[in-house]
Amino acid sequence: MCGIFGYVGTKNAAPILLEGLRQLEYRGYDSAGIFVPGHALVKAAGPIVNLAAKIPDDLPGTTGIAHTRWATHGPPTERNAHPHTDASGRIAIVHNGIIENYRELKEVLSAQEIPCNTDTDTEVLAKLIGSLYTGDLAKAVQTALQRVRGTYGLMVSTADDPGTIIVASMGSPVVIGLSADGHLVSSDPSALLAHTKDVVYLKDGDLAVVTRDSYTITTVAGKPVDRAAEVIQWDAESVQKQGYEHFMLKEIHEAAEVIKNTTRGRIIAKEGKVKLGGLEAVLDQIKDLDRLVIVGCGSAYYAAQVGRYTLEEYAGIPIEVELGSEYRYKNNLQTGKTAVLAVTQSGETADTLASIRKAKAAGLLTLGIVNTVGSTIARETDAGVHNHAGPEIAVASTKAFLSQLTVFVLLTVLIGRENGALSTADASEILAGLEALPTIIDSYLQDVSAIEAIAKKYSTYNHAMFIGRKFHTPIAYEGSLKLKECTYIHAEAYAGGELKHGSIALIDTDFPVIALVPQDDVYEKMISNVEEVKARLAPVLAIATEGDQQIAEIADDVLYVPLVHPVLQPIITTIPLQLLAYNVGVAKGINVDRPRNLAKSVTVE
Ligand code: F6R
Repeated sequence: MCGIFGYVGTKNAAPILLEGLRQLEYRGYDSAGIFVPGHALVKAAGPIVNLAAKIPDDLPGTTGIAHTRWATHGPPTERNAHPHTDASGRIAIVHNGIIENYRELKEVLSAQEIPCNTDTDTEVLAKLIGSLYTGDLAKAVQTALQRVRGTYGLMVSTADDPGTIIVASMGSPVVIGLSADGHLVSSDPSALLAHTKDVVYLKDGDLAVVTRDSYTITTVAGKPVDRAAEVIQWDAESVQKQGYEHFMLKEIHEAAEVIKNTTRGRIIAKEGKVKLGGLEAVLDQIKDLDRLVIVGCGSAYYAAQVGRYTLEEYAGIPIEVELGSEYRYKNNLQTGKTAVLAVTQSGETADTLASIRKAKAAGLLTLGIVNTVGSTIARETDAGVHNHAGPEIAVASTKAFLSQLTVFVLLTVLIGRENGALSTADASEILAGLEALPTIIDSYLQDVSAIEAIAKKYSTYNHAMFIGRKFHTPIAYEGSLKLKECTYIHAEAYAGGELKHGSIALIDTDFPVIALVPQDDVYEKMISNVEEVKARLAPVLAIATEGDQQIAEIADDVLYVPLVHPVLQPIITTIPLQLLAYNVGVAKGINVDRPRNLAKSVTVE
């Protein structure tokens, strides 16, 4: 949430900062600003283009810090936009995170007659740093941070020393990029790819002094620490649109490639074997578990719900699925041997991270299914699996969700084989199906024009109800979430059998139902549910198995998908739902890559 980007080097800073912000815009896009010490402080409400329009082309200065905001404290106005300054206006800061004790600090400042002029928690930190500054900026930041409770990815700069940026991290990611012409700082490594692949990730409690030629990292308490440089594995192309109108469309069309990358080197289909290197060291513990608790938020939570169905059906292991925001605050009764598995694309979601920390504190084994290598959850879990889905830029998760489903299939076979719940023949059948899936998806995606036409029709409604059963219940929830966030249409989701317990009262001619009816073992039950809503005059769009004539006779519209193994079916059934949300959003003129009120990494609770 929020993006910070900094540069100190030999080139003009402003264009580099603006480009960095454009790469980070998916993290928040309420307002933006830059500080080029000694030259300019510019802020604008709204997206980065508004800021860019206010920055002169010839703005000098080879150091700068920049911010794109997702508002937490105070509305998204220019006044509340970062950077925020100290009382002198010579020190500026950009901040991602929340200063929890900002009210207390504000009172202390007010007693010193240092007023704050915005609604933000960040300004309080800026004023505090300024009040402690006596010529050594790093020292002032250190002292200030020791008085702060909360989370921060922070950059501070002063016109008194324009060749230095002070950087700090606590519960919010910060990465330093090492390039030939200087150093960069970013809240996401993908924004550095245009400059370098060599990076240093800060850890919680780190403070770095960054100049053109050097970076020195200590703890906030001033103890030196050594952080090794790493090489980013993604390339710059993977964060470009590559001819697609939107990142979301590009990422949906990457489905086949993503499944290949998620499974590469991890399957021996003939032997019914899965190899997940990141879990090998803890495999004996996993095999022996009485219970696996899976934690996630949003789409990751729905992927975990699918995982629960597949793991319980094929791997014989009791599963609980928890929302990160709930698990972290409730009393989680520990019985038997339990592990906690976090599912997260970003690896930074605050509630998921807090859940993992809570599980760790309770002495439980912690595991992760994480896309972003080097992220906090990837680093803090005991063991895990990387998705290898590549950077996901569109705010709505698509390819990462499919990759999460794919990892759950791998995990199901791995655990099922280890504990004897799954025979070699059954495991081989699933894995052979998984190997064939990219080709099937590729050919499916060759012609999705039917979805565009149907999307136009469904974009005229104000409501939608998604229903599914068993593996497809969580997919119904995911379909409704995607539609809500990309189109602002009110959407609900239910297990097909639940409707008649109340929600069917909503149904009428203006309340379409999107029914997931692949030919699986609950097909007949779903057909009955579709009949029930049709009898109440709902327009019905069915997602069904190619060649199914029965559904064509009942539903108003049908989008067909190929039939695959039941454990793989949710992967393919999700794709038309993603494309439906995308096309309805586009038909309604919405910027589907950056829907209102959202941000990609939810690093605040
Ligand atoms: C929805 C979406 C969100 C995320 C959720 C968790 O399209 O993208 O619901 O799935 O915020 O994010 P991660 O996976 O980064 O923990």
